[in-house]
Amino acid sequence: MSDRVEMRFRAIIDAVRVQIRTKVACGGEVVNMLTQIEIALGCINDVVRNPLPKRLSACRHLPEVFSLAKNTNMAPIASAFEKIEPYLKWVQNPNYSDDRLGPGYMENYAYCDFIGPRGLAGGNEIAAGFLLLGPNRLYPDHCHTASEIYCVIAGTADWRTDGGNWRAEPPGKIIFHSPWTVHATRSRQQPLLALYFWLGDVTQAADLS
Ligand SMILES: [Fe+2]
Repeated sequence: MSDRVEMRFRAIIDAVRVQIRTKVACGGEVVNMLTQIEIALGCINDVVRNPLPKRLSACRHLPEVFSLAKNTNMAPIASAFEKIEPYLKWVQNPNYSDDRLGPGYMENYAYCDFIGPRGLAGGNEIAAGFLLLGPNRLYPDHCHTASEIYCVIAGTADWRTDGGNWRAEPPGKIIFHSPWTVHATRSRQQPLLALYFWLGDVTQAADLS
């Protein structure tokens, strides 16, 4: 792997760690998980694998989310992600299909890990990456064994937990899901880009509830 990729990899980890420290300083129920993530990211030094970069149809929304993030507090993470993104592999949950999630869903949904089994480094206990959801899409109720934290990077979307009321979560907001918590996300007129972390068994894909 080239020095250029190593530099970009370090830059996204550094940008994410800065954001985590900011959130930890704010306190709240997610501090424990954020602290674990910060420690884990601090132990990852080098790119150890090449996941064979691949873009999917949803990546056509990338220019818009990067544009939305410009001149916001999320710009450092978005910019670092934009630079490492060409080296990452976008994927989709094998449990999902248009038959299950509605026509056109799969061409408006993708995610990519920079840390984790499909990422540039890391093992099976932590994953970090980005979810991309096109405009006006419902990612319906689903759950998974890993603990999860999202940080919204671009695009205010509605989020809900355990079938409760929808909450509008703007860029910068942290959203926490404990293992097997049922949760859903509904994008608005803008696409959504969200940084995610998984802790636990990150090899077990989410499934609809
Ligand atoms: Fe989730």
